[in-house]
Order: sequence, then structure tokens, then C-alpha cells
Amino acid sequence: MKFLFLNGVNLNMTGLREKDVYGTQTLEQINAEIKAYFKNDVCDFYQSNLEGEICAAIQNSQKQGYDAVILNAGAFTHYSYAIRDAIASVSVPVVEVHMSNVHAREEFRNKSVISEVCKGVICGFGKVSYILAAESFKL
Ligand code: DQA
Repeated sequence: MKFLFLNGVNLNMTGLREKDVYGTQTLEQINAEIKAYFKNDVCDFYQSNLEGEICAAIQNSQKQGYDAVILNAGAFTHYSYAIRDAIASVSVPVVEVHMSNVHAREEFRNKSVISEVCKGVICGFGKVSYILAAESFKL
């Protein structure tokens, strides 16, 4: 299968910020583990702090032939109607993931404006959230 692992705002700081919440591994290290886990699949990785670039990556995922997009939109999750509309505009299934359990944190993180247009939501399993989301397409 062909997966796009897409990370939004501030996920480039993983391993450096709030280590008690997001762990000590960098995004590059996590991505390398995901690539090794799915060694027989195509795994591409993209991170941007810019909302429009995340929208463009979602739009392009369709013509690039991805079977699924695994999306950790970061804080965009909680307010980006633009990303929500981008997800709704493609037929590629998008899974919302979070490393932390967003329901056990601040109230503003309890609300996602993208869940409704995503195939499913996985949160709270650290880097394993990404793997569980992609693995779901293989079961
Ligand atoms: C996050 C949770 C979001 O609330 C937060 O803004 C992030 C990371 C997570 O992976 O747990 O940047 O998406």
C-alpha cells in the first residue's frame, strides 16, 4: 500500500518540546521506525507548519495515488476549517491521529473540527498511533 504520513504545525518540534507529553524521539526518528515497520509498503512523510501546505498535500494525495493519509494536524485539528474542507474534497481516506490523548488534556483539545470528515480517529498511543492508523488498512 502507499501511505502518506502527514504532520502539521509544531510536529517538527517532537522530541524537543513537552517531552513528558510527546516523548523524546524526534519526528525523523519516529518516521524511520514507521518506515521500518511498513517495510513492504510505500511510506512517504511530510511535515509543515503552514496550513495551506497541509491542504495542498491532502489535495495532491489523490492524484499521487495514496491509499490513505495518516494525518496528525497538531493544533490545526482544533480550528482549521480549511483542512477539514481539504479532507472532504478528496476520496482518499484520511485518519486523524494524535500522539497524546487529546480527551484527557485541556478542554480546547477535546474538540476536533476534522474528525467528522476523517475515516477514523486514533489518539493516545504516542508514535504507535501512526502505526495503528496505517495498520487498520491492512487488516
Ligand atoms: C497533537 C495534539 C494537539 O492538541 C497538539 O496541538 C499537537 C499534537 C498530538 O499529537 O497529541 O500539536 O496533535
